Amino acid sequence: MNERDSAHIIAELEEKESYQLTENPQEADLILINTCSVREKPEKKLFSEIGQYAKIKKGDAKIGICGCTASHLGDKILKRSKAVDFVLGARNVSKISQIIHQNRVAWVDIDYDDSTYVFSQNQHSALKGMINISIGCDKKCTYCIVPHTRGNEISIPSDLILQEARRLAESGTKEILLLGQNVNNYGRRFSGAHRAINFTQLLNEISQINGLERIRFTSPHPLHMDDEFILEFAQNPKICKAIHMPLQSGSSEILRKMKRGYSKEWFLNRVEKMRHLIPELSIGTDIIVGFPTESEDDFLETLDVLEKVRFDTLYSFIYSSRPHTEAHHWLEMEQVHLIDEEIAKERLMRLKDRHKEILTQDNAKQVGRIHKVLVESYDAQNLWLEGRSDTNKLVRIKAGRDLVGSLCNVRITEVKGAQLIGELA
Ligand code: 5AD
Ligand code: SF4
Repeated sequence: MNERDSAHIIAELEEKESYQLTENPQEADLILINTCSVREKPEKKLFSEIGQYAKIKKGDAKIGICGCTASHLGDKILKRSKAVDFVLGARNVSKISQIIHQNRVAWVDIDYDDSTYVFSQNQHSALKGMINISIGCDKKCTYCIVPHTRGNEISIPSDLILQEARRLAESGTKEILLLGQNVNNYGRRFSGAHRAINFTQLLNEISQINGLERIRFTSPHPLHMDDEFILEFAQNPKICKAIHMPLQSGSSEILRKMKRGYSKEWFLNRVEKMRHLIPELSIGTDIIVGFPTESEDDFLETLDVLEKVRFDTLYSFIYSSRPHTEAHHWLEMEQVHLIDEEIAKERLMRLKDRHKEILTQDNAKQVGRIHKVLVESYDAQNLWLEGRSDTNKLVRIKAGRDLVGSLCNVRITEVKGAQLIGELA
């Protein structure tokens, strides 16, 4: 989502203000830091980063802080750092071309605002585009700060999404990535009287656009993966067969305390149903270890889900207590306590180590398989093409011609770490 917001900000500044990107911060007239606040560590790094830019920047260059930490800390950032010229919250990206003309202000409101409909008119990769289909999140997972920083969930009218998807397809985009905090909850709330369709219908309508070859989306919530969605996902050839299913914990008891709304059994049942219909399906996940009260037995339940699902990608984190969340409140009230850091670190290591072993075993099975790859780049010197498979794996292909933009069948001949190597089939 932050990548999309950055692309949006860049597009607005290039279009409305004639800024150009530079690789060199010393020559920049404007330095923007787009921030995340999901965990505490990156938030802590913000002020040292501001200090570094302040030292090297041109005298009259402005510094702006955008994103979720901007929403969360607001004008506290201005109070703490004289070097900052403005603070723009995550829900306010489309106001970037106004705020750069202001001095020492923080715009962080999370009220609904029509200008958030404005899409990036200038995506940087012609082949792949991103479309924001909803903003904010209505869930109240007890560890998560996002509903506080990005506000209530609102779906963007489907007519606007379809119009944007058509525009991208006409300009040569082959693959689109639909984005939202909770994409498959799409359609629960619109800002006004718009045509109400759900996520499954939206996927179906987008897939009918000529020229678009592939659709991806992130992040869906396991709770909303109903049978209707799974059927469309499995049967629609334009929908890529890779899905992110954030598990968070394999213990139903911890899931209940996290207020995730599903149990271990529901999660496994959804995976089983999808794998039955799509044997080649690639599944990614997010896992938090060390959520308050997590016992060794709870953690073993998480390892059990890893064994059963054998995730293709895993993002794993140690629980980080965030303000404006329910679990943070329990900790403050001393109703629960933080898990010992050494125990949490050890669980994270065990999880990651086991996942690495699983990946090595499963990747080896890729040799001989055929994948459909969208070619994204060509290295003419070394005669390599590079792209992503339908299942979102990075594939390098030995080939003597530039096939950027085409969908090719590739036979896998070798596996190097997470990368597959192959030849045109
Ligand atoms: N501590 C650790 N990880 C978190 N995430 C969200 N909030 C926290 C937190 N307080 C993780 C979740 C989520 C991913 C984006 O970040 O796993 O899916
Ligand atoms: Fe956070 Fe839960 Fe919303 Fe995801 S679904 S953004 S984890 S509150």
